[in-house]
Amino acid sequence: MKTYLVTGGAGFIGSNFVLYMLRNHTAIKIVNVDALTYAGNLENLASLEGDPRHVFVHADIRDREAISAVFAEHQPDYVVNFAAESHVDRSIENPGVFADTNVQGTVNMLACARAAWDDGNGGYGDHRYLQVSTDEVYGALAIPEALNADGSPADPEHADFFREDTPLSPHSPYSASKASADFFVRAWHDTYGFPSVITRCSNNYGPYQFPEKLIPLMIHNALHHKELPVYGDGLNVRDWLYVDDHCKAIDMVLASGRLGEVYNVGGHNERANIYIVRTIIQQVREATGDEAITEDLIRYVTDRAGHDRRYGIAPDKIREELGWYPETPYEEGIAKTIRWYLDNPEWVEHVTSGAYQDYYERMYAGR
Ligand SMILES: NC(=O)c1ccc[n+]([C@@H]2O[C@H](COP(=O)([O-])OP(=O)(O)OC[C@H]3O[C@@H](n4cnc5c(N)ncnc54)[C@H](O)[C@@H]3O)[C@@H](O)[C@H]2O)c1
Repeated sequence: MKTYLVTGGAGFIGSNFVLYMLRNHTAIKIVNVDALTYAGNLENLASLEGDPRHVFVHADIRDREAISAVFAEHQPDYVVNFAAESHVDRSIENPGVFADTNVQGTVNMLACARAAWDDGNGGYGDHRYLQVSTDEVYGALAIPEALNADGSPADPEHADFFREDTPLSPHSPYSASKASADFFVRAWHDTYGFPSVITRCSNNYGPYQFPEKLIPLMIHNALHHKELPVYGDGLNVRDWLYVDDHCKAIDMVLASGRLGEVYNVGGHNERANIYIVRTIIQQVREATGDEAITEDLIRYVTDRAGHDRRYGIAPDKIREELGWYPETPYEEGIAKTIRWYLDNPEWVEHVTSGAYQDYYERMYAGR
């Protein structure tokens, strides 16, 4: 029975990953280490209550003593490091905590894993460490001359995409901290022969995403007839991947990816922000029958500083080497996601009111 140490497993992608892994592998154990910042929400994992395959540890990835104790007690075979500060706007307001958590935290995870796994002869057995990174480390791509109505390139054969050998050129404090962490992961591999691998995924969407990010924010605001703030001209393009497809990629890279390598993860689902906002307006109006949800709610606001224009992933390497492909087309994924937020008003209400932060106390305090 393999043990996975998952950090940040109470966040959006981390909690989806924990659920995905326990759904798809019966005989594994997951030790979930999370500091429960504003972005950590154990309610995401309420369905696992009483499941002995999931162990939650309230700890900070920067804490050497606490993380060493987790390695000593649980002897994990694998580490998947999701824990991070993840919101670009917050990184512009407060870059220091991004350097602390995303860089120092990663260095601490690497140091603790190496100390626990080194067999004394420079070997690490079958252990593996996967760093969850982002396509934002590559910087921005130009918008192609010809676009489809949804913002995707009309001629993808001749458009630019991020490849694993695209030079890193981060622009925001968030992406700079993630790029820096990636360099440390590579340095651990190259210097100590440490068994690490990196994934760089495009924008994720799906259930349990904190409503500060584009898609859940727009669904929430539309439902409450609040303004829908759109940065700049709304034509910034992101490559959207349904979260379970990201989880599947991490599972596959951890199992069979080549150590020391980077794997880009994306599904050629490029969409302009304004297109996404219009889709949400239309689908939320249709689902609720609320005629007050119209495009009049859209308000264009001053653009984000240093806003990258376009991201687009070439996922050829992971497809060719590991056979990964995205299972959820954007149209299906966005409909499923909107339905999830409509069906889970309590989750949204707890997140927006802050009540989710009491969950740890209620469920775990004194245990
Ligand atoms: N969301 C995306 O679209 C996307 C895309 C590509 C890569 N990523 C990467 O995936 C990872 C997860 O992203 P997300 O969107 O789920 O983020 P999130 O903000 O929803 O979750 C982050 C989690 O990390 C925890 N955390 C923060 N600081 C910590 C610390 N010091 N110690 C322990 N836990 C801590 C938080 O409590 C939270 O549970 C990040 O590394 C992010 O860079 C995200």
